[in-house]
Amino acid sequence: MFSPTATRALRRAASSNTKHYICPACKYSTSNTPNRVIFSGIQPTGVPHLGNYLGALRPWAKLQDGAATDDRLLFSIVDLHAITIKQDPRLLRQWRKEMFASFLAVGLDPKKSILFAQSDVPAHAELMWILSCFASMGYLSRMTQWKSKMSLPSNANPFDTSTSKKKDAPALKLGLFSYPVLQAADILLYKTTHVPVGEDQAQHLEFARELAITFNHTFGADLLVPPQTIISPAKRVMSLAEPTKKMSKSDPDVKSRILITDTKEEIHKKIKVALTDSIQGVSYDRDSRPGVSNLIDIMYHFQEEHFASPEQLTKDLFGPETSLKVLKEKVANTIDDHLRDVRERFSSAMSMGDVEMSDMARESADAANQLATSNLKTIKSQMGLGWD
Ligand code: TYM
Repeated sequence: MFSPTATRALRRAASSNTKHYICPACKYSTSNTPNRVIFSGIQPTGVPHLGNYLGALRPWAKLQDGAATDDRLLFSIVDLHAITIKQDPRLLRQWRKEMFASFLAVGLDPKKSILFAQSDVPAHAELMWILSCFASMGYLSRMTQWKSKMSLPSNANPFDTSTSKKKDAPALKLGLFSYPVLQAADILLYKTTHVPVGEDQAQHLEFARELAITFNHTFGADLLVPPQTIISPAKRVMSLAEPTKKMSKSDPDVKSRILITDTKEEIHKKIKVALTDSIQGVSYDRDSRPGVSNLIDIMYHFQEEHFASPEQLTKDLFGPETSLKVLKEKVANTIDDHLRDVRERFSSAMSMGDVEMSDMARESADAANQLATSNLKTIKSQMGLGWD
């Protein structure tokens, strides 16, 4: 729970007409009417890679640092989502810890943002049940995620009973199929106004918006807030090994991705073997030169403030005379320069004692629980599920 001082101050704020209040212990806004509510989540399925960093974690830290005092920010380690595929409990515990350390390493600050594990806030699962009573099976069956996790084609249908497809039906678990409903619950539980994500999450965000609209329509009240999606400029960082596919934690080829904890040597080695092409010189064209363009994109996203576009960066720094070896060297140096601090902060966060880290996570989870419980109570009451 909150410290006694914070609890007393919270009570004082609640009993007065104060609309906005900054918790002295945690500094984040506990306003009843925050300006923006920013929520996002990441699965604890290993140390984040460059796609997670450029597409999500770094934009989250930027949003945090540029936030107004009455903005509220919540970032969650979505461990209930992670268990939609089989997980080893010991590894999952380790990955949760590593993700918390990654949050701190990229500059997320528990004094400014609520950083918590999803499974520490039971209201997520409860709201998911409520929302699943409004979620269309037809809509869910069109979502791409369960198909890609099961390596099924994009036109796969869970209701297809033809003999050749029957074998897939038992493999598809309800949790994986209803994954987007839990994601909608994560977002809608906090009256989130903005969700910063990479491009692959756009379909889930649209689903959450539509679910909120359907729900509000059913009860004739604006109980849920349809959120806006903020797609990061680095919306789709591609694999180093297959640059027509996005960089992903689940790719069995470890050379396909750079982790935020990779050493200088590892970064250079992975960039050196990144798939490019045999065309002379350096030029930017995502269609005809996906490998080279991905490397330029990565470099550009680390230096967005210096160049108007990846094309501009290419024009200013490279040309038809530049060898791919020089390009790769520069890209690897840029990544290493930017990740050096992150990896140092990661290792110091990981050396924090288990108790210290779990205390920090619990304090944040208390704040999330307080907001979630109060919002869920209002929703349930409006639905006829409360006594008052
Ligand atoms: P997850 O864990 O797969 O990824 C976390 C974030 O990283 C972004 N990302 C990328 N961005 C650019 N290029 C890439 N190659 C790349 N790979 C991943 C993702 O877009 C994401 O923003 N379903 C979500 C987690 C979630 C969530 C939420 C997100 C659960 N509840 C509520 C937002 C709001 C997921 O699996 O992300």
